[in-house]
Amino acid sequence: MQKLVDDLRARDELLIVRKEVDPCHELAAVTRAAQHSGNKTVLFENVSGSAMPVISNLYNSRQRLCEMIGAEPEGFCTRWNDIHDHTKSRAGSERTVIDRPTDLVDCSISDLPLITYHGKDAGPYFTSAIFLARHPDTGVENLSFHRSMFISDEELRVRLGSSHDLYRYQKAAEEKGEALDAVMLIGAEPSLFLAGGASLPGDWSEVAFASAMKDAPIPSYKAKASDLMIPASTQIVIEGRILPNVRRPEGPFGEVMGYYVEVGDNHVFEVLHVYTQPSPIFHSLLCGSNEDLSLLEARTAAKTWTHLNNTLPGIIDVSCAPSMMNTTIKIRQQYEGHARQVLMAAFGAHLDYNKVCIVVDEDVDIFDLNEVMWAFTTRGRADTRTMVIPDVPGFYRDANKDHWGRLGLDATWPFHRANEFERKKIPGEESIYLADYT
Ligand SMILES: Cc1cc2nc3c(=O)[nH]c(=O)nc-3n(C[C@H](O)[C@H](O)[C@H](O)COP(=O)(O)O)c2cc1C
Repeated sequence: MQKLVDDLRARDELLIVRKEVDPCHELAAVTRAAQHSGNKTVLFENVSGSAMPVISNLYNSRQRLCEMIGAEPEGFCTRWNDIHDHTKSRAGSERTVIDRPTDLVDCSISDLPLITYHGKDAGPYFTSAIFLARHPDTGVENLSFHRSMFISDEELRVRLGSSHDLYRYQKAAEEKGEALDAVMLIGAEPSLFLAGGASLPGDWSEVAFASAMKDAPIPSYKAKASDLMIPASTQIVIEGRILPNVRRPEGPFGEVMGYYVEVGDNHVFEVLHVYTQPSPIFHSLLCGSNEDLSLLEARTAAKTWTHLNNTLPGIIDVSCAPSMMNTTIKIRQQYEGHARQVLMAAFGAHLDYNKVCIVVDEDVDIFDLNEVMWAFTTRGRADTRTMVIPDVPGFYRDANKDHWGRLGLDATWPFHRANEFERKKIPGEESIYLADYT
């Protein structure tokens, strides 16, 4: 992560805040202002209550994620799929084992920046931490994000979504009456950050996915309290264990969909060791903002692309902008009815998301919903190009069935009439430089 920060500084993509900032709301408010005004990454040099600088809005756009994985601007899905395909071949060689560095600095949770993000949040939260854990039976390693509420130096409370691997790992340990060893990685290297967003088959290691992304092993050292292996580039490490048969109130918290999630009885993480690199940078992530949504958007789009590409011809690209609930698929039409088959397949590509799916032709910008809706409204009928699938469950946390049902929109032109939908152009418009005319 340090290298990424240095690169951003050199490219003048870093907004450096030297003024002292309050970690309670002010830091989040400045981050949001930066996101809405140029979307620069922000480095807070002086956060009250902690000696550590804080970086926010770091993985702030799909373009940046493309850079991180070595993809062309519109090639995220295909590159992610290639990494996926290479993951198995990295198994067993995904890391090199090194001695634990001697210059790590022990500290406690309350030495870290304790950031409260939203007005009704129950308290400070860790939002960027990647949990690393091993399945208690198979030993397969998993990386995933889980927000964690600060209670004390000894205790955090964690939200483990029931559709995620860490939930299953913890359940398997709990059934044996055991705690699940886990480490929280804050400020891990970019490949691990991206791998934290990946959902792989249950017997695949997500550390191997990170290694496949870099095409190199991840240097790692043994944890202090368990056999878990800590990626050596991690800025801040919190070691601990998720306790069996213990649930305590966590929340409310301002969450990914833009609303508060009510207080609920959630898992308890017992903190055993906290340590940092000699001059660590703390990574703050504003939930539901560009930084959260870019990864969720891109990895959901990639999963959908892979599923569709394995099922049907003519799939060009997929976007889940502005949020994973919405999926837009760009195709090159191959036959009459092709777009409707793509819609059917897209509904099944991700059972939590893909609530609204839209298929467009190859000339439409799938990252611009204005253009997508323009295509729907100008290329055919509204009634026969709309598909409603009633009464299907969606997002896993949905007590009131707000996410049930699916909507599909075929926004493509009629298959045999493509020539009628050629987009008009003004000759020379792309080379006009307005200053020459004023
Ligand atoms: C920044 C960020 C924060 C997240 N926070 C949570 C969370 O608090 N709880 C949760 O269950 N999932 C959360 N997620 C979703 C999962 O961590 C993520 O989907 C991950 O890929 C799950 O991996 P798995 O399918 O291997 O379990 C978050 C995702 C991101 C990108």
